[in-house]
Amino acid sequence: MTETQTLTVRDNRTGEEYELPITDGTVRASDIGKIGTGEDNPGIAIYDPGFTNTASCRSSVTYIDGDKGILEDRGYPIEQLAESSTYLEVAYLLIHGELPTKEEHEKWVHEITFHTFVHENLKSQLQGFRYDAHPMGMLMSSVGALSTFYPEARQISNEQIRHDQMVRMIAKMPTLGAWAFRHAQGKPYVYPDNELSYTANFLSMLFKMSEQKYEADPRLVKALEVLFILHADHEQNCSTNAVRSVGSSQVDPYSAVTAGIGALYGPLHGGANEAVLKMLKRIGNVSNIPAFIEGVKNGNEKLMGFGHRVYKNFDPRATIIKKAVDDVFEVTGVNPLLAIAVELEKIALADDYFVSRKLYPNVDFYSGLIYEALQVPPEMFTVMFAIPRTSGWLAQWNEFVDDKDQKIARPKQIYTGDRTLDFVPAEKRWAL
Ligand code: SDX
Repeated sequence: MTETQTLTVRDNRTGEEYELPITDGTVRASDIGKIGTGEDNPGIAIYDPGFTNTASCRSSVTYIDGDKGILEDRGYPIEQLAESSTYLEVAYLLIHGELPTKEEHEKWVHEITFHTFVHENLKSQLQGFRYDAHPMGMLMSSVGALSTFYPEARQISNEQIRHDQMVRMIAKMPTLGAWAFRHAQGKPYVYPDNELSYTANFLSMLFKMSEQKYEADPRLVKALEVLFILHADHEQNCSTNAVRSVGSSQVDPYSAVTAGIGALYGPLHGGANEAVLKMLKRIGNVSNIPAFIEGVKNGNEKLMGFGHRVYKNFDPRATIIKKAVDDVFEVTGVNPLLAIAVELEKIALADDYFVSRKLYPNVDFYSGLIYEALQVPPEMFTVMFAIPRTSGWLAQWNEFVDDKDQKIARPKQIYTGDRTLDFVPAEKRWAL
């Protein structure tokens, strides 16, 4: 018997029955909206705070299966990409939808490499921040400012102009991120070295001092390449939703990505990697873990780096990062916080509070240990997330712009306030 892909809904207020088509496991909210009692009562809307069960788009960029711990970028398993690809090749894949030919790859790498410089006015803008400005606030401001240097970016229906802005943003993010770091350190800004790879150049802009050429340990460059690949895209997460939503007003991509940086900044999202390091430092010693876990179970705080809206068994990225930690510590020496993180994970995964809530380590639980081993301070950890996620945000934005099904984001609400009050002017109100 062919399974009828429909939902039969009976509205008991009217006795009416409705056949709603089920497509790709969803029903259209507009079909639900046809269910009403007539007169002035509008059709039924969907109430879904945090969009826990709402599909906002059709996308072919990234596939996640939360129960099986599957993550695929354009169909390629993240484990294979992390093992054998490079970040720029994955960025190309995400944006163009397929792996580049040799010529396409060479052109892409050349374009990115030769767009790493930023206008000197932007450097002056960054120098205007306080010495202790958070690098994410600096990154958000400077990416927003980029929109003023490329006004043609507002022509979002022009594919070549769109391409040029995506190249510029992927290329300039490491420069802006590194300069925010150098600003906080009170060190001179280091200009891009176009002879280096994308990740090696980023490390050079972070750490180069008086030496002629900064040579990062190839094992650290490789570890950063893996981290960048793992962070590149993750379907409709909070910051991508922000990029798509702001982009739906047809604003330029710099402004849309600025909204994504703002969303990623939050401790429940990309800011979690910074919060994990601070949490591990606060625990300080393996013997303090039981008391900390009790505090979490009493609701005093969250176990940062644990839990995920989609992954309910394990985050495949956390598994890969945990392996990369060992490679990095071979070069830098073991971070004593690793022992606390490993013991914390072990205790949590044996505790029903976490198991019953399907809370497992996510991408942010171990990544901070690598960043710290690379001598990157916690305030920079979310910048390390934003830089690679830029290609994912842009791939999703680019797909949105071409999606004929999409329109400006403007959700409904359930109104809970007063109605039709009579206004009494202030002089009368205060005289009462
Ligand atoms: C990222 O979406 C993405 O793809 C994001 C991301 C990406 O690549 O873009 O993967 C990157 O943001 C990873 C997540 C990083 N955030 C953290 O590590 C912060 C700590 N985690 C939580 O705040 C939380 O788990 C979220 C925000 C990640 C997910 O929140 P949900 O899906 O809204 O789940 P929830 O808050 O409804 O939690 C369900 C229950 C609640 O308990 P009860 O109310 O049922 O008693 O689990 C509890 C929560 O209180 N809970 C936690 C917890 N996370 C959830 N309790 C303790 N510690 C935690 N970390």
